[in-house]
This record gives sequence, C-alpha cells and structure tokens, in this order.
Amino acid sequence: MSLVLGLSTLLAGAQSVGYDQPYRPQVHFSPREHWTNDPNGLVYFRGEYHLFFQYNPFGDVWGHMSWGHAVSSDLLHWRELPVAIPEKDGEMVFTGSVVVDHANSSGLCTAGMECMVAIYTGYRKDAKGTLQNQNLAYSRDNGRTWTRYEGNPVLDLHMSDFRDPSVFWDEKGKHWVMAVALPLEHKVRLYRSPDLKQWTQMSEFGPMGDVAGDWECPDLLRVPSGAKNRDDVWVMKVGLNPGAPQGGSGEQYFVGSFDGTRFTASTQPGAHGWTNYGKDDYCAISFNHLPAGQKPVLLGWMNNWQYASKLPTSPWRGQMSVPRSLSYVKDGAGIALRQEPVIAPLRGEHMAIASSAEFTRDAPFELDLKFDGHADGIVGVRLYTDNEHFSEIGFDRKKDEFYIDRTHSGATVAPEFPVRTVAQLHPERLFDLRLIVDRSSVEAFAQDGTIAMTNLIFPGSTRTRMVFFSSSGQKPRVRGDAWALRSIW
Ligand code: FRU
Repeated sequence: MSLVLGLSTLLAGAQSVGYDQPYRPQVHFSPREHWTNDPNGLVYFRGEYHLFFQYNPFGDVWGHMSWGHAVSSDLLHWRELPVAIPEKDGEMVFTGSVVVDHANSSGLCTAGMECMVAIYTGYRKDAKGTLQNQNLAYSRDNGRTWTRYEGNPVLDLHMSDFRDPSVFWDEKGKHWVMAVALPLEHKVRLYRSPDLKQWTQMSEFGPMGDVAGDWECPDLLRVPSGAKNRDDVWVMKVGLNPGAPQGGSGEQYFVGSFDGTRFTASTQPGAHGWTNYGKDDYCAISFNHLPAGQKPVLLGWMNNWQYASKLPTSPWRGQMSVPRSLSYVKDGAGIALRQEPVIAPLRGEHMAIASSAEFTRDAPFELDLKFDGHADGIVGVRLYTDNEHFSEIGFDRKKDEFYIDRTHSGATVAPEFPVRTVAQLHPERLFDLRLIVDRSSVEAFAQDGTIAMTNLIFPGSTRTRMVFFSSSGQKPRVRGDAWALRSIW
C-alpha cells in the first residue's frame, strides 16, 4: 500500500504526465487516478487556493473515503498533492470545509499563529449501525500534513445521517457558523462556536422547496449584487439526491437573509432556483477566506449519482466543474443567482464569429455567442464530433426553454444518461450563450449567467464542428467569439 501511495505521490510532482487519456478533462480538475466525488474544504490561504475532494486512494469506485488535495494559484491550474486526510481506524472522512483560524481560537495552531482547521463528517458503519458526526483536523504547514483533533467528535447527535458541515467566520457575531444537513429530514441546521470545538444550535432551515430526496452539502453564503449600490443577499444552497428535476442529483438555492442566527428565504419571484439546470453539477461549495473584493466562487462535482460509477474513464473517475464567480441579478423577471465561469486565463487562439458559417475546433474551447432577432422558434448550435454524433444547445422560444440535448452526443453510459435538460427562459433577459466545451463535458451559461447548465458528454472525438441552426430552416444571425482553451496540465 505504502509503495502505491509513494509512487502516486512521486508522479504527482510531474503534472503533465498522465493527463492525456481519451475523455480526460483539459480545463477541469480531475485526480490523476482513482475515484473522486464532492469538492471539500475549498479555501484560499497564503496565496494558494486549496481544493480538497472526496477521494478513494485505492480504486475507481466510491469507498475508503478520504480527502484528496490539490492546490492552485489561479483556480485553474491545479497541482495534486498527497492525500490530506485518509480514512483511519474504520472512520471515513466525508464532506466538509476548511477554515483559517487566524486568531488560534481553537488552540490547535502553534501558539500565536494562524493555521488551517478542517471540519468534516466522520462516517462509521459497523455491527452497531451507521454513525455520522462532525470532527476536526488541523494543519500547521499550509495544508501539507493534517492531524486529527484528539477530542473528536466535536458535534455528535448519534444519528446515522447528519453530515457535510460548511463553516465560515461571522465577523459581526465574532464566532464560527456551521451549516450542516439533516438529510432525511430535509433540514439545514445552523450552529455557532467560539472555538470550533463547542457548538450551540442557533436555528433550522427547511423543509422547503424540493424534498424528493436527501438534503446534502449545504452552503450558506453572502452574494453581492451584479449592479452597483445594491445590498448583498444571503443564499442557502443545498444538494438534493435523488429526485432533482433533471433526474438524480441536483442543487437548489434559496435567496434570502441571515440575521446572524437564522436564514429566512425570500418569497420574491426567482428566490428559489437551481444552481445548475444540467445533470452534472453536485455538492458545489464556495471558497472560504477569499481575498477582499473577490466575488464568492462556487465549484462542484461534475457528475450525478445516477451513473457516477459507470463513467467510461480510466485510470480516474470523476471531475470538478469550472469555478464560477457569483453575484445576483434583480430585474423584471425577479431575482436570480448569476454565475460567471472563471476561464479567461486559459484563452488561446481567438476567432471572431460574424456569421452562421460552420467551423471546426478541437476541445477544449470556448464559445461566446449572441443570437440576433427575436425568433419565435428554436435557434442554437450543434456540436458535431462525427456525422451522427452531436450535442445540441438551443433556445426554444415556443416553449420558452433553454436546453442541452445530449441524446446523440456519444457513449450513453447508463439509461439515465441520454437526456435533454431544460431551464425556463425569461424573455426579458439576454439571449447570450457561453459554452465551455472540454473533452467530456459541455458547460453552458445563458441569459447573463442566470442559467448554468452542465452536462457530461462522451464523444468519440475531440474534433468538433459547430453548426448553427434554427427551426425555420434559415440560418440564424449569430455573432461572438471562439477561443481555443489551453490545457491546465
Ligand atoms: C454527496 C455525499 C455527501 C457525503 C459524501 C460521501 O455526494 O453523499 O453527503 O458526505 O458524498 O462521499
């Protein structure tokens, strides 16, 4: 075992080696080998963005859950590091967050110093049953090595389902706040703590919105307005699995207010929405301790529990979405979360799109498009990877739907895979479309980022022919930009 871990550690130094297999994402993070699911402990500390992730160090299916680790200086180029927090003595390390304990409130840092503290769900399953509780680990060396706190667990309700703590520092209250899920009760509980060790319940949120499946991976975050001179709002984001509108796993959000104790959802139009209207973005969380002035950044697992273990990739399985900067929009259609992909630093060769003439590119690439005129039918683009296989992205004005159709995109993976995912269009918003096409995914941002739609695809080729179409048969009027994207590896 140590030999295997030693070897992968060694190879992790050479980041360009081992990242060129078929379907291997070039602008999205994936571990060099083995299984990943949720991102964990997203945090910025001393010039580095840290991405921890649910990881099986021993295989390409779920199991032995540990925290994998990668670091980046720009949220795009990731360097995978050795496993941060491994499974230990029968305790798996489930999803959680990392905070920077600036004032050593926990006493876990070297005296007078700041350090990183992870708050994760410990999971045990034995003859006595299943137990999930909240635990701490700390790192005094910028996340390179981690020690479990000897007083664990720090929050234990003796429940089989109680998980995914998301912790942040509340500057007003001068204490830590934790949002944590009671999945089967469709509730998010809020706790506070002066030292990350003792937790006092403040309130509960839910059930509300969609409750067809477990509630997992909550995140309570403050989101600025996209316009000037508007107040921030608070957003409660919570994963739903299964039972999301597109099938399987999904992520709903509630816009509202947080008074330091309680989150209250707003009742205005649009206050309840989905952070992603595709099938493949789950358990997204935001980065803690971002530099002042930086908008919140959300990053999710680009997958769906319906078929996550069947993805035809090797020697890794699972990848993350692109990071997305968050703000909110308030207009005639109501309020909505707005997501802007962080991708511009990877842009390479540029082409201006001035007509609907077709052209060809190799994935990964980005398209920024504007469709002209107010057609009353369908306008969109098909991404052909051979004559029979294509993904179709379109605006359907008859049904007022934005959609991605991947029924003909390539390998079908599982019965739940070949689908058309939809989101409601708002005629008063822009008809713009940003597409990030990687070797095994299409991420779409439409209507000024108020619709995010992420879907995996498994085409036979990276060579992609862009064909603009409309339901009237006439070529639509389209303009915009196409960029080659440079690989992050
Ligand atoms: C969500 C989830 C979390 C849990 C983790 C285990 O995808 O089920 O609730 O902590 O995965 O890997």
